[in-house]
Amino acid sequence: MKGTIHYCLEELMLEKYGQDAWENCVQLMGYEEGFSFDLAIRDDIDEKESINLFVKAAEAANVSIPQIFDDFGEHWCCVYAPTLYGAFFEGSNNTKQALLNLDWVHSVVTKKIENARPPRFHYDQLNEDVLEIEYKSDRHLIDLFISLIKGLNKKYGDHSMIEKLSEAKIRLTFNVDETKVIDRSAVEVPTEA
Ligand code: HEM
Repeated sequence: MKGTIHYCLEELMLEKYGQDAWENCVQLMGYEEGFSFDLAIRDDIDEKESINLFVKAAEAANVSIPQIFDDFGEHWCCVYAPTLYGAFFEGSNNTKQALLNLDWVHSVVTKKIENARPPRFHYDQLNEDVLEIEYKSDRHLIDLFISLIKGLNKKYGDHSMIEKLSEAKIRLTFNVDETKVIDRSAVEVPTEA
């Protein structure tokens, strides 16, 4: 996976959990002291190593993996990507618009970054407020995808409800009354027979 993901995780660790937590993560990963992904954002990092980095980051910060995914989603959407890839957010004023742009964003990234193999998305707009998205990636990181959507909700101050329908599909309901939003992102909702 592209090093930009790793560098965002490093930045988040430093900003939210501090230098010691990041150094601890570096040590758990077996990297040299003082290691940074800052010059590696376009590099291809081994897939297993990439997942392991999230696991070790959680361990070093003493939080759960779902928590580190949520932290990453928030940092990517609210801080890191707007700074580095701001143009991709232009024209999007809410979570729904940003999500509908996502497949285009990732396909453009594919063209611009050599060897990129980003996830792709297929949309099924059931009505104005309900959108189902099929997540297509052999990395099977739908939980990270969900955390990134939570990050978009934070960025735009939205309260869209996220339901995980399977390991490859989610349902979003927009414009839900804030007090009625139930976090069902971790719960698999049985599909109708
Ligand atoms: C400015 C916006 C964005 C850019 C430029 C961008 C770019 C990228 C890049 C370069 C990768 C690594 C791909 C690879 O290694 O081949 C990636 C991975 C990923 N992106 Fe984005 N991204 C953006 C926003 C988002 C948002 C908002 C979401 C979800 C709501 C998202 C979901 C994901 C997921 C889940 C992955 C993990 C890889 C996988 O599942 O296969 N991205 N993105």
